[in-house]
Amino acid sequence: MKNINWSQLGFHYTETDYIVRSEFHNGIWSEPIATTDKTIQLNLSATCLQYGQQAFEGLKAFRGVDGKIRIFRMEQNALRLQSSARGLYMQPVPTDLFCRSILLALQKNLDFLPPYQTGAVLYFRPLLIGTTPRLGVGPGKDFLFAVIPSPIGPYFKVGFHGTPFIVNRRVDRAAPLGTGQFKVGGNYAASFRATEEAHAAGLSCIFLDCKEHKYIDECGAANFFGIKGNSYITPASSSILPSITNNSLMTLARDMGMKVERRKIPLEELAEMSECGACGTAAVISPIARVIDPDNQRIYEFGKEPGPVSIKLYNALQDIQYGRVPDPYNWCKIID
Ligand SMILES: Cc1ncc(COP(=O)(O)O)c(C=O)c1O
Repeated sequence: MKNINWSQLGFHYTETDYIVRSEFHNGIWSEPIATTDKTIQLNLSATCLQYGQQAFEGLKAFRGVDGKIRIFRMEQNALRLQSSARGLYMQPVPTDLFCRSILLALQKNLDFLPPYQTGAVLYFRPLLIGTTPRLGVGPGKDFLFAVIPSPIGPYFKVGFHGTPFIVNRRVDRAAPLGTGQFKVGGNYAASFRATEEAHAAGLSCIFLDCKEHKYIDECGAANFFGIKGNSYITPASSSILPSITNNSLMTLARDMGMKVERRKIPLEELAEMSECGACGTAAVISPIARVIDPDNQRIYEFGKEPGPVSIKLYNALQDIQYGRVPDPYNWCKIID
């Protein structure tokens, strides 16, 4: 085990010993290899640099209460990367190659897997890039797939508390029939103008639907959910990323006897919600304390403390990820 102060780790990159990589040339993926070299030699004309042919993923391995390692819903990340690859006309990484690469990255970096109860986990960043040199506009035919691991600290350093959000109507992160449903770098670069401005004011961004700027779309780099009566409500939109955490929370909410509604959510409906949050791999749930709508001089207040449903859902998901309760959906790949 590395001598790392696990509970002091933040949510940022810590280099591990190995990364894993595989290349696609002449219609064939090479076997994934683990290497200590974290750099690549890339022609500056590569399609990832010229035309943004790039997609990525994010998933976690947890050291459980029983000492076993659990990787959460790895196949879902494989499927989503395949969808992103097709969206940008790239070669999809087969599920088997994706999963073997994650397992190899874990095995070669076991010393970087944080112990149970430190709040830290081993995060994996799978990355797919187009490497064909090409100046004429168009897709390439060569690709590199890599898995970059990093131990990351607890998302909530000061505990599980709500944070303030601001509604953004100045920047669209993705068009209705654009790339919002894919996890591609361009969406994030397109949102930086809005998110950095919000961060400077101590806020996170809520993006509205790009056509009418009327309905809630994404919460920064996370999905939105709200609780209204006994309903778990989350946006139906062609421009949001299908979050694996949100999908899991919907299942858990149904299990708790809640109604799950996936539909358009007008911003003003926040006034009828008792609690709401952003959900994603990083934080599981990031409760929303307040939503500021500067254009209409309106503030929707939810309070700094997370609501009871958010707490229940958060605990239910973390209990499965840390092996504290049985995993009825086989969400975790368990490694003894
Ligand atoms: C834009 C965006 N939406 C939603 C999510 C949440 O997805 P997941 O729960 O699969 O991490 C993420 C993070 O991956 C994201 O970047």
